[in-house]
Parts: sequence; C-alpha cells; structure tokens
Amino acid sequence: MLTAVDDSARTRVAVTPMKAPIGALVECGDVKTMDARTFDAVHRAFLDNLVILIRGQDLAVAELLAFGRRFGELSPAAPVHKGQKPREYPELAVISNVVENGVSIGGLGDGEAVWHTDSCFNDVPPSASILYSLEIPPVGGDTGFSNMYLALETLSAELRKAIRGRTIKHDKRYTSGGQLRPGYTGEEDIRTTPGPRHPIVRRHPETGYDALYLGRRPHAYVDGLPLDESEALLDALWGHAADPAFAWHHQWKVGDILVWDNRCAMHRRDAFDPAARRIMNRTQCMGTPIAEATGDPAGPRHPRAA
Ligand code: SIN
Repeated sequence: MLTAVDDSARTRVAVTPMKAPIGALVECGDVKTMDARTFDAVHRAFLDNLVILIRGQDLAVAELLAFGRRFGELSPAAPVHKGQKPREYPELAVISNVVENGVSIGGLGDGEAVWHTDSCFNDVPPSASILYSLEIPPVGGDTGFSNMYLALETLSAELRKAIRGRTIKHDKRYTSGGQLRPGYTGEEDIRTTPGPRHPIVRRHPETGYDALYLGRRPHAYVDGLPLDESEALLDALWGHAADPAFAWHHQWKVGDILVWDNRCAMHRRDAFDPAARRIMNRTQCMGTPIAEATGDPAGPRHPRAA
C-alpha cells in the first residue's frame, strides 16, 4: 500500500516528476546528513516514481553504502569476472570500462546493456539499486528506465490472458552486456539453463500494485510452452514493454545518484566511446521472495500508470 508521509516531511524535499511516465528529480540536500523524516519523503518519492534522481552529491564508498542501507539491507554484489579487480567492499559493484595495469576496475564495459531488471536470475532479486557517478563520458552511457506498472496496464487483453499464471525461466549465465558469467558455458537448452522461475506478473510488496516482470529477453523461456510458442509470446511481450512511451533516459552528471525499483522498473544503458572513462559505484538492497499477483491490487492503478 502507499503509505502517507506527513506534510512537514514533504516540505523538506522537492519532488519534480520527469516529463515521462517514470522518474523524478528529488531535491533533498546532502544525503549524508538527511534526517529520518526527510528520508521518509525521499522513500515515498521512490515508491511513487519508480526511479529518483538526486544530484550534486559527494560520497565516499562507505557513505554511499550508508545511504543505500536506508532503503533496506544491502546484498552482496555478484562475483567479479576473470581479469577484473577483486571487490574492496562485498556490497559494492564498480560499473566501469576503465582498465588499470591490464585489470578492469569494474564490470559491464563500454557496450550497450540491454533492457533488464537487476539480478532477475537470482531466486530473490534485489529490491532497489543505487548507482552513483564518479566519472562520465562526454557523450553516451545514458541510462534508460521503463515503467512496468504501465506496461502491464496497457497490455492487450489477449496477452494478459496468455500470461495469466505463467512464469518465465530466467537465465543466470549472461550479464546484461551479453558476457558469460564465470563458471558457465553458453551451450545449454534455454528451457533448462541454470536460473530461477519467476511469475510474469508480480505484486509489489510495498505499493501493492501489479507490474510486468520480464527480466531480460535473451535466453528467457516461458515455462510449459513449446519453444516456438514461448519465443513468440516473449517477442510480443517485449515488443510492448520496450515501447519508448513508457521510458525516460537519464544523461549523467558527476555526483548524480539514481535509485531505481527493480520490482516495477526495467533499465538499459547506451554504449559509449571505449576511449572515454565511465566510473560508477553501485549498491543494491536485498529483495523479498517474488509474490505472484493474485486478487485485487492496491487500487485501480499506480499513480504513474494512470
Ligand atoms: C546497470 O545496468 O545496473 C548499470 C547501468 C549503467 O551503467 O548505467
């Protein structure tokens, strides 16, 4: 359910929704010194807008982790790839293309990251991701977000019927940049690859609204269908969910924080010039087991899907 934030807390925080059905600029001062009531308003803005942008921050790693912890317990970051610098903090992932002395300081390189929700290949994916920019390329590397409450609301009756009660088999092997994760080969049948099954329509545990939960398109499989029918259904779902009308794209500045809700938003990243440097610090909050949408949701529509 949407919880109310008292008016005195609202006055400390300015929330300006983006001119898109997802995202808001949140002006709340220095996140290092935010009091509990101010944080309540920031958290409210996060639930209402799916993604929040907070600008002009100056955060050491421990300060970013402390800010992340306000959204929930942090989860350990995924194992690093071969040739990548070991993690200094278990809950911090460096997202970067920078190579120092032959060693990548982070993951995801400089290529496009396709539409995805973070770690959908885990049994319990993270609830929130918090990404903070330290260095950005002059052009490219924008991060886009798409509203999955709205994608569900606008899905055709035929597709709604086709996905009712169904699950997707998510594939643990590949990153959103298309790289094989350590310890996996690329040869298995997609119906049986390592990875969990999650409901295609999930209920958000905090807002109570339902959202489409697709994870990522490559190597996905709709359980129980012949492979060709699964492919056709996934193509139709993705053709709808990737509609630019549901999306907002962020051009980064140094000192920006984006906090996004993996339970109801997908994201992607543009490629950028390999010769440019991009360095981001990311932490994530532990989620809760995914609840299938059953019965009536919290209200007719989430406010950003109305
Ligand atoms: C991510 O997909 O988590 C990273 C997005 C980005 O690098 O902008």
